[in-house]
Amino acid sequence: MSDPSPRFPDGFVWGAATASYQVEGAVDADGRGRSIWDTFCGVPGAIAGGDTGAVACEHYHRYPEDIALMADLGLGAYRFSVAWPRIQPEGRGSANQKGLDHYRRVVDRLLERGIVPYVTLYHWDLPQALQDRGGWPARDTAYRFAEYAGVVHAALGDTVRHWITLNEPKVSSHAGYGSGIHAPGVRDLDQRDRAVHHLLLAHGLGLQALRANGAGHQVGITLDLSPVAPAGDSPDDLAASRRVDTDSHRLFLEPVLRGAYPSEVGAPFVGGTAAELVRPGDLELIGAPVDFLGINYYRRMLVQATPTGHLRAEVVVPDGVPVTDVGWPVEPDGLTELLVGLRAGYPELPPVYLTENGAAYPDTVAIDGTVHDPERVDYLHRHLLALHAAIRAGVDVHGYFVWTLMDNFEWAEGYAKRFGVVYVDYADQRRVPKTSARWYGRVARGNALPPR
Ligand code: FCB
Repeated sequence: MSDPSPRFPDGFVWGAATASYQVEGAVDADGRGRSIWDTFCGVPGAIAGGDTGAVACEHYHRYPEDIALMADLGLGAYRFSVAWPRIQPEGRGSANQKGLDHYRRVVDRLLERGIVPYVTLYHWDLPQALQDRGGWPARDTAYRFAEYAGVVHAALGDTVRHWITLNEPKVSSHAGYGSGIHAPGVRDLDQRDRAVHHLLLAHGLGLQALRANGAGHQVGITLDLSPVAPAGDSPDDLAASRRVDTDSHRLFLEPVLRGAYPSEVGAPFVGGTAAELVRPGDLELIGAPVDFLGINYYRRMLVQATPTGHLRAEVVVPDGVPVTDVGWPVEPDGLTELLVGLRAGYPELPPVYLTENGAAYPDTVAIDGTVHDPERVDYLHRHLLALHAAIRAGVDVHGYFVWTLMDNFEWAEGYAKRFGVVYVDYADQRRVPKTSARWYGRVARGNALPPR
């Protein structure tokens, strides 16, 4: 008999996550510089509906209200990101004090309300000035990141104990410089590879900068991971699924956890060249131990071989599996499989946080003013059961952050896709907690799932 209302380990962290460009708006406030997303939003056709993050949820000004919402729900942690262009408008040099003061106020308010801050230093909003000097394909950007990390840590490290260097570096490199569907919209495999290594180097150098003054601080990185399987039983599908797994996951996991690129990726990562992309000492920095691994889980990847494209592979949605409003299959068992598989495959796996998990559905406000989202409640419930199963199987998971606190700017999808547990009416910035917010609040307060 399965447990009717599974409990989570004592001290398990329940939180919500956001990212600066997706929620803050106020792009001209207090000396903020431009980011690559401000620029990309100006490219015709880049963002659905021509949307931009210029206003977003006005979280920059409304954070007290949003923190009060989290406190009312009983959440114990908030994962948010610092906008680099607010701290160093030109991506280098001395800090913009007003930017630092803003995040100091956010952190102080969180602590007043008993909510632990988890700070992500980079969630995709690179200062445009650094892109103008080459962006992530330029090695110097990694050093600039370390400088920035040190500046933020010096300002907030007295009270912030939990730090995430990068969010999903794969998306920064592969979508930003490979497919070009994200800022800065570059399509060039050579630049993509260079971006991969320099993002990882930024993580390693950032880790070093944070460790320099942060005794007792917990530092990690967040990767987006999925179990990968072939769509059919042909050898071609199997080979294609291995290529996708290597390119999307092992290319990041192995340098971070083992200090080595997977041998099959070859040059320029293994064996040198491309003007010696990987230099002596880089992998020692990248592979320095982290205190935790942040994992964002949304879906499984089912892979089919195709004749074209760089990996000769495409990710397909299995028949008969429900999908969310962004077309991602709902596969909670994939979360258990992912975590148990990581534990088996990586003896060096540190403690894990689920730093994102959630779903987009086309929510609407009912005539009585409520937003009822039973599909999202079901999604969260199933994924938390799957998480619980992984913990029972021995995976050391310390916390869970729902993506996301409130509907926001969903990158290339604009505002059309709603991932929040809180509804945002963009006409007047009204926040309406959805049914899922209340449900999630009960889970957080009780540290247990309600009976099904
Ligand atoms: C993740 C991103 C996050 C959000 C969710 C839906 O890849 O980290 O910002 O867009 O997907």
